[in-house]
Amino acid sequence: MERHQLWGGRFQVAPNAALVELNESLSVDFRLWPYDIRSAKAWVAAIAQAGVLDAAEESRLSKGLDRVATRLERGDGDNATDEDVHTLVERLLYEEVGDVAGKLNTGRSRNDQVTTDLRLWCLDAIAAVDSELQALGNALVSQASSGVDTVMPGYTHGQRAQPVTWAYVMLAHAWPLARDRGRLADAADRLAESPLGLAALAGSGIAVDREQIARELGLKRLSQNGLDATGARDFVAELLFVLGIVATHVSRLAGELFTYASAEYGFVRLSEAYCTGSSLLPQKRNPDVLELARAKASRILGDLAGMLSLERGLPAGYNKDLQEDKSLLFDAVDTTLLTLPAIRGAIEEMKPVADRMEMALDHTMLATDLADQLVAGGVTFREAHGLVGNLVRVAESLSVPLTDIPAETASTIHPEFPTLIGSLGTWRDSIERRSTMGGASKQSVERQIELLTQQFAADPT
Ligand code: ARG
Repeated sequence: MERHQLWGGRFQVAPNAALVELNESLSVDFRLWPYDIRSAKAWVAAIAQAGVLDAAEESRLSKGLDRVATRLERGDGDNATDEDVHTLVERLLYEEVGDVAGKLNTGRSRNDQVTTDLRLWCLDAIAAVDSELQALGNALVSQASSGVDTVMPGYTHGQRAQPVTWAYVMLAHAWPLARDRGRLADAADRLAESPLGLAALAGSGIAVDREQIARELGLKRLSQNGLDATGARDFVAELLFVLGIVATHVSRLAGELFTYASAEYGFVRLSEAYCTGSSLLPQKRNPDVLELARAKASRILGDLAGMLSLERGLPAGYNKDLQEDKSLLFDAVDTTLLTLPAIRGAIEEMKPVADRMEMALDHTMLATDLADQLVAGGVTFREAHGLVGNLVRVAESLSVPLTDIPAETASTIHPEFPTLIGSLGTWRDSIERRSTMGGASKQSVERQIELLTQQFAADPT
């Protein structure tokens, strides 16, 4: 049987086998078939309304497309060798309805078809990623809720800086994900436009009602220039960019937990269900989930870089280079959907180790509290900073915590120091002194938990 092809009339020679292999995209774009059927059905309705099909033809094509969908669903396309998904769908449609299938692509090009399909695919992918982000956000908020009283060092530059709580740290990783949900929603809104009816580049020769097609496909607005719309893939790049940011956030979280899970810190205990062993070292309990989450970010960022470099230098309009967009997009979405549930599970099951966290607190971390108290007594902050710095240096030279410096030594630096040191209070007192909104105090943390619980419960706005 002759191979079904969407082109060829002007050729005398069949395509070389090496070209066929290079040109084929079915192995990548097969997953677009449900969207190709949807856009084809919208197209059938549009060209029927424009007078290209009579009612009987419209019904045959539309029902035929449904039967093609049923066949593809049950695996009829699994070993297909068509050039791409659009060719596959048309070939099967011929099998279902005969020659009337030849009317389907009246006034339509694969150029407006593929970008329409891809936009529809992206909208579903965004919904899937968003619901995983929601779940991951909820896992962090739930860790935070049970860690409101778990005091630990807060770090900057990898150095112990000030006491905070486990809740505060978990929330610091939840806020970026809330912003990412907003980014996904923005990307979804911007990409929800309909290029269908713009054909190869210059618009369709059939006077279809593009508004009606867009409504049928659930798209919000029309692409306004066919040359732009058929060649534009910034919606793919934008989604990859958002996934790149998501992956970067997840990678930062994973990297931090990786440190905390080490024996040296011992701040968290990962569930065995999310660890693997070593083939040589019997004692090992490796946090692979965290390492892989970190590594998947590199891969997704690679997809983004690949997509941007694919687009740069292309003139307006469709160029076959763009066929490579899908493997990058699908890889990034698949990788995201593989990573997010795993890291979420690990976070749901991990246990903070409160006493290890507390052991890591060091009274030098109250240096800022001391400086603030000197300021309250009328010293300028710059001077107070210097005086407390001197105190820290003395503590270091005596190898004692800041709070154990003998009173007579402390008072040589500033007469108020012995009293102020005596009134520093507990770690919690120090945390509560940082009461600005968004700070580490209990009230602020509880407010953040409330806000984020709402954010991760609702649809993004
Ligand atoms: N498989 C192609 C792609 O993904 C479909 C569009 C082909 N268009 C064309 N004029 N050959 O980009």
